[in-house]
Amino acid sequence: MSSVNRGAAAAMVSQEPAGGSVHEFSFSEEDFRHLTRLAYEYAGIALADNKRNLVYSRVSRRLRALRMNSFSEYREFLASDGREVESFINSISTNHTKFFREEHHFHHFRSHVVLPFAQSGGRNVGGRLRIWSAGCSSGEEPYTIAVVMKREIRDFTGCDVRILATDIDTDVLSKAARGEFSGSAVDEIPKPYHSFFKTEENNGAVDKVVMEKDVKALITFRRLNLMGPWPFHGKFDAIFCRNVMIYFDAPTKSTLVERFTQQLKPGGWLFIGHSESLIGSHPGLQLVGRTIYQRTAA
Ligand SMILES: C[S@@+](CC[C@H](N)C(=O)[O-])C[C@H]1O[C@@H](n2cnc3c(N)ncnc32)[C@H](O)[C@@H]1O
Repeated sequence: MSSVNRGAAAAMVSQEPAGGSVHEFSFSEEDFRHLTRLAYEYAGIALADNKRNLVYSRVSRRLRALRMNSFSEYREFLASDGREVESFINSISTNHTKFFREEHHFHHFRSHVVLPFAQSGGRNVGGRLRIWSAGCSSGEEPYTIAVVMKREIRDFTGCDVRILATDIDTDVLSKAARGEFSGSAVDEIPKPYHSFFKTEENNGAVDKVVMEKDVKALITFRRLNLMGPWPFHGKFDAIFCRNVMIYFDAPTKSTLVERFTQQLKPGGWLFIGHSESLIGSHPGLQLVGRTIYQRTAA
């Protein structure tokens, strides 16, 4: 194809409407390929061809914020300013989450990790518990883990209990660290846990759910790209990586599961999302429940 024809083909793609409307910015096949390649290489996020409209609409917000006129201008900016890749990834990541999502994981976590710790005064694990929420989004998952622990372990004196909550997206991490959620979040929280959340009311309706200080104190929020190095000293008693690997392809997922396995203590637990069952062999991991895996002793 001549360069003139290639330009015409690109222009045709740019006219291809999202949901039948005319695009505000021209968006060529090359723009799409370039951005999806970057998302894959940087964050492991695999965006198939049917995600074209999603990429367009999410990254368009970035163009508007930067007052840019075209995707090619944005691509030049991405290439010239190394910090923009972070905002780009923030714009394309999918952050849907909720409190007590896939609740049976928390029942298992309570009975296999929290209760043995509470009943032995922490002596079963030398007083030390490390939990990792990998891909924690806006914090509902680590806060759920924290309240499940708080409800059973009333006194943390002399214990070393930490939840590490990481995500690649700095926008959701800021929200998570604030610990404030819309009033509707209260509907996601089972009644026995209501007392661990502070609510603010407006006209008789719950307007805001605010995390208590002592619950927040159990969690450390950090930016971490799962594709990069993991700067951990010790191993984890449990890792929650739920509804994250759904965005990765099979080889990426397989490498990641291998790394999670190495990062777990023998007997430790890996919780993954309901739609993410692990296909293929994963030496060192045993399936023990619906999307729950345990690190074998060896
Ligand atoms: C759908 S949310 C899942 C939140 C929570 N785990 C849950 O199940 O409700 C997926 C999260 O994974 C994060 N994510 C995607 N790729 C990542 C990567 N390479 N490293 C770290 N986090 C990533 C996204 O930013 C997003 O917040």
